[in-house]
Amino acid sequence: MTVSVESGPDLAALRHHGDAEVGPGLVDLAVNVRAGTPPAWLRDRLAASLDGLAAYPDPARAVAALAARHGRDTDEVVPTAGGAEAFVLLARALRPRHAVVVHPQFTEPEAALRAAGHDVDRVVLGQGDPRGDLTLDPASVPPGADLVVVGNPTNPTSVRHPADVLAALARPGRTLVVDEAFIDTAPGEPDALADRRDLPGLVVLRSLTKTWGLAGLRVGYALAPADLAADLRAAAPPWPVSTPALVALEACSTDAARAEADAAARALAGDRDHVVAALRAVPGVEVRGAPAASFVLLRVPGRPDVRERLRARGLAVRRGDTFPGLDAEHVRVAVRSRTISDRLVGTLAEVLAS
Ligand SMILES: Cc1ncc(COP(=O)(O)O)c(C=O)c1O
Repeated sequence: MTVSVESGPDLAALRHHGDAEVGPGLVDLAVNVRAGTPPAWLRDRLAASLDGLAAYPDPARAVAALAARHGRDTDEVVPTAGGAEAFVLLARALRPRHAVVVHPQFTEPEAALRAAGHDVDRVVLGQGDPRGDLTLDPASVPPGADLVVVGNPTNPTSVRHPADVLAALARPGRTLVVDEAFIDTAPGEPDALADRRDLPGLVVLRSLTKTWGLAGLRVGYALAPADLAADLRAAAPPWPVSTPALVALEACSTDAARAEADAAARALAGDRDHVVAALRAVPGVEVRGAPAASFVLLRVPGRPDVRERLRARGLAVRRGDTFPGLDAEHVRVAVRSRTISDRLVGTLAEVLAS
């Protein structure tokens, strides 16, 4: 593992997201939302919630359901308008003297911190070692950092850090933010910290966007010590999470919904094994790390044109070069059905042979 600590303010790159890559006639391999979602039963629950729209949202039921699910007090739960809002609330609520974001990772945490006027240091995994394994050594995080942000599993690397490695980052005087937006893409949510109340300053962020196909609803939540949760609530506008979003939080916290997510995660693992094996067999393609989420990070040495070439052949993949620590030889591809994956692999082989 190679690590460097650096700073860099490229806000435009940080604000680039996979949805900018998709377009009419293109197969979407750029956005990591589960295909075929939201499920019909969830759409029905959301549709039924429209009858209550004349009233202001009341988060009580959603908060109680989430608290029960995670074995927490209700004052440790903060519904948010997606993980993206949670990063903004944290940036508003905290006054870090030394904020560190572990990259490559989702870029909104750093963008939100910078937009709120905070300086950000980067710990860049795999820097200078494009074949490095992208795992995290807690010793690489500066000991004086009072805010550390890490994704688990991490977008775009698909690497999942062991719970004990992340736990080793928690300490009094530091806020440790673990973004678990993709944790439910693995059966049983291994290495999740959401239920841990013993780690000082731990904030866990969750999202319903990916597994439940609710990107357009804007729904997620934060789990934090009560005092920090209160600060996050205070940083939010009034009624930040809509009634349908609160209904989704409650509906997706049931045992039945969790079993459904688990079954989807098991199916995903099979589809991921299929595409990873096929990609590894393509000459000139490197699969980075050990993919553990619903996407795979690829490196195609010497072929920075690969994204445009795939696009010209109808396949939209996520560019890698806007992620700190990666470059144009990287692309991220969503795990899709085997039919779509086979088309991706065949097209990629053709492109690289040309
Ligand atoms: C790792 C990660 N965390 C959080 C988010 C935010 O998602 P949302 O705001 O839709 O919950 C995303 C979205 O792409 C993401 O990739």
